[in-house]
Amino acid sequence: MTILINIVFTYFSFGQTVILRMIGPEDVGGAWKEIISKFEKLHPDIKVKYISGPWSTDERQNMYIRSFLAGDPIEIVYMDVVWTAKFAENNWIIPLDEFFKQIDYKDFIESTVKAGMYKGHLYRIPVRADVGVLYYRKDIINNPPKTWSQLIDLCKKYSKPNEFYCIVFQGMQYEGLTCNFLEYLWGAGGDVIRDNKVVLDKRSTVESLTFMKTLVDRNFAPKSVLTFQEQHSLSFFEQGKSLFMRNWPYAWLILNKDSSKLKGKVGITAIPPKEGYTSSGALGGWGFGIAKGSKHIKEAWEFIKFATSKEAQKILHFKRGGVPSRKSLFLDKEILDKNPHYPMLYKILLNAKSRPVHPDYPRISDTIQKHVSAVLTGIEKPEEAYKHMKNSISSVVEGRNEPLFFRFFKDYDLYIVLKNTILFTLFSVPIELILGLFIAIFLNQKLKFLGAGKLSVLVPWALPTAVMAMSWQWMFNNPFGVINDLLLKIGFIDKPIDWLSAPEGAMFVAVFSDIWKTTPFVVIILLAGLKSIPEDLIHSIKVEGAGNFKGFLYVVLPLLLPFIRIALVFRVLQAFGVFDLIYVLTKGGPADSTKVIALYIYDTAFRYDDFYYALFLTILFGFICLVIIFLILKFTTLDYEKVR
Ligand code: GLC
Repeated sequence: MTILINIVFTYFSFGQTVILRMIGPEDVGGAWKEIISKFEKLHPDIKVKYISGPWSTDERQNMYIRSFLAGDPIEIVYMDVVWTAKFAENNWIIPLDEFFKQIDYKDFIESTVKAGMYKGHLYRIPVRADVGVLYYRKDIINNPPKTWSQLIDLCKKYSKPNEFYCIVFQGMQYEGLTCNFLEYLWGAGGDVIRDNKVVLDKRSTVESLTFMKTLVDRNFAPKSVLTFQEQHSLSFFEQGKSLFMRNWPYAWLILNKDSSKLKGKVGITAIPPKEGYTSSGALGGWGFGIAKGSKHIKEAWEFIKFATSKEAQKILHFKRGGVPSRKSLFLDKEILDKNPHYPMLYKILLNAKSRPVHPDYPRISDTIQKHVSAVLTGIEKPEEAYKHMKNSISSVVEGRNEPLFFRFFKDYDLYIVLKNTILFTLFSVPIELILGLFIAIFLNQKLKFLGAGKLSVLVPWALPTAVMAMSWQWMFNNPFGVINDLLLKIGFIDKPIDWLSAPEGAMFVAVFSDIWKTTPFVVIILLAGLKSIPEDLIHSIKVEGAGNFKGFLYVVLPLLLPFIRIALVFRVLQAFGVFDLIYVLTKGGPADSTKVIALYIYDTAFRYDDFYYALFLTILFGFICLVIIFLILKFTTLDYEKVR
């Protein structure tokens, strides 16, 4: 449909006009509006449509990927440095080496150009350079910290809990958290990947995680920092509520505008390293690529040429705070007059480090985010987080070179999700069967009041899983949920339990919800079984003098066995393949503790775009299911049934 609308839009409404599209964050300040309108004046036959996307880089990346996969590629790919390897490896963008030679390419900062290269070709031309920096209140301190311990000393001196904090950064689980973590990791002498080998080491990882955790635990950073992206940290700092802020250079312009409370009061310095090590900010930045299937490559290049020119980069700088990617602009008088810190920023930029360059970077970054977040929220110890990160990243990097069939042997995440799936099945299915059996026996009694009761037992089964999962999610919520409230009131617990944010709690809620939802299914099947046993038979057992229990064990249970078997096969398969319940309830979190195999396959296909492996896992999983059915049938079929 979108494709159709675009065709109609392109060819009919605008005649010969070529329409190009690009996705960027909200155009605050109107820089892109101005650049595009200047470009369109120079090229009346080309129109550029700026699609305003979410702030988060991960979400915009997904928008581009969806457009590539849907066969309607957004022509101008306005991309983060870290997207290059994946986009190039998948052939979603074209090499730009020949185009780049046509312009004064030597003016571009080498590291920003290098960040756009993959396997010897240039895929992305930088328009904005970026590097993580530390902002400090120069009206409060004269000498910014040069090491971790100096930072901690200043924190001890100036922070007043709940009033004035020492530092804010990007602590939410997203790409920004990876950048923050890497800066501390590099600052402790560590790294993640070098020459395609995973070099994450225990000492530097544990030290950097411990340092970050100290900032949160000792209230040097507000607890809310765990929900902060760039704009949240900026508005916190802008309100004068902290001494330091880790952010990108764009914030300088906002902090120094006339209406800012902090105008003239803020300095910029490099992120401090651990004593004895050197500092490196994360190299960020944005640049342009051209989508492979684009019908207007020539026109897209015209736009990129203009948008990366000095003129456009200056607009981006003055209206948006963007750091130029051209060296000459660091000597531009107009820019220097407004940015006395630029010579120093240039040095920080030259020392910046790239995040791992790897086609599976999104997955690597996801792993980092997940475990750093787990440490900051107290779910994992730094040592545990290190172990998971190392194993998971190694299996991604090494697994890539393995033939598809062998990949799963080394797939550490698969091992974790299999373990979770088996645990989930082992806890939920037996309880459902036993509970279901008791309820079915009870409902099979000839008691008058049971008429309506029989029906009401079906309600949980009839409710859509997603709705039911959301209800339990709310009920187990801390602090708003009714469960904690109830347990506190009856004195069962003395402080609220963090059900969904602790691994064991989340698994418990998942199993509990599943039991609630699917026990009725077992009840229906077993009730049908009980009804099929002739009443005369039950009667004659009693006449023979067998007690209730004996009669149940030797007569009823064997006759019920085929029904139990059906319930077991269904339930084991459903529990093994559970998706919707977990997806809605926990999304597999916290820190993958409830991630099950179906969710993993879904992520592999739709988040990491690793379709072949996802397909392979689906087939493998189907095969495992067949084996399970076979085993259940084999071990629950009694000899006399076989004869029959
Ligand atoms: C900035 C950087 C980008 C980074 C992002 C993380 O936009 O330029 O490279 O990935 O922040 O939030």
